[in-house]
Amino acid sequence: MNFKLEIWRQFESGQDGAFESFEVTDIAPDASFLEMLDQLNERLSHEKKRTVAFDSDCREGICGSCSLVIDGNPHGPRQVTSCQTYMRDFIDGATIKVEPFRSNTLPVIRDLVTDRSALDRVIRAGGYISTTTGPQPEPNSMLVAPAVQEEAMDAAICIGCGACVAACPNGAAMLFTGAKVTHLNLLPQGQPERESRAISMVNQMDEEGFGGCTNYGECSRVCPQDISLDVIGMLNREYRKAAVGKKPKNPPKMVAQ
Ligand code: SF4
Ligand code: FES
Repeated sequence: MNFKLEIWRQFESGQDGAFESFEVTDIAPDASFLEMLDQLNERLSHEKKRTVAFDSDCREGICGSCSLVIDGNPHGPRQVTSCQTYMRDFIDGATIKVEPFRSNTLPVIRDLVTDRSALDRVIRAGGYISTTTGPQPEPNSMLVAPAVQEEAMDAAICIGCGACVAACPNGAAMLFTGAKVTHLNLLPQGQPERESRAISMVNQMDEEGFGGCTNYGECSRVCPQDISLDVIGMLNREYRKAAVGKKPKNPPKMVAQ
């Protein structure tokens, strides 16, 4: 397969950037989008030209580092990560536009690489889960209702990629933060810091300059992990309850099996 690529080039943070065109030829349909960029970089390197900077790590949809906007969509045309996007998903001969995630809170470092450390600082603001020392109870003695466990695990699969922020017209990080708060606040282990976690993470979002949520829903549409908008409702409820100093009324149900 052959493609024409329009790739965002920016030498470093704060500088002006521009699109540069490249032709790539003989690309296998089963090559991933990142493998196609590898092929381009190999050629540029042989030609002694500056290669295209982009982020990746696991290349299995786990780490969340492959932050590309492909043809206007964070991560590309399908609701999967850029590293799980394959060239067979595009029409042979197509022109493909490749940009970094665009948001004030995710500044470009070089070309397609953005600084997503604001998301890490939001997680860090949530703090640790406290634990007791000494002999621990048998894990199976801490029972969690299957429905609660499922809800928590559905939120826990957020990979922190930041596509939700890039897609949001307000640059909000509510889906990401909602996923983290939902995951931890539903489980028994997350109860001691339940209130402080919600307050600290929301405060950190504000401090970082993420926008507010006005229910566009673009975040969930592009999320490669299919995180539901429900987590935003959970975050709002947790924050409000914590802000007025009330104990949450719906602690996770423990059921005997
Ligand atoms: S909520 Fe989805 S889009 Fe946002 S950081 Fe998590 S996995 Fe990525
Ligand atoms: S490189 Fe890890 S999710 Fe894409």
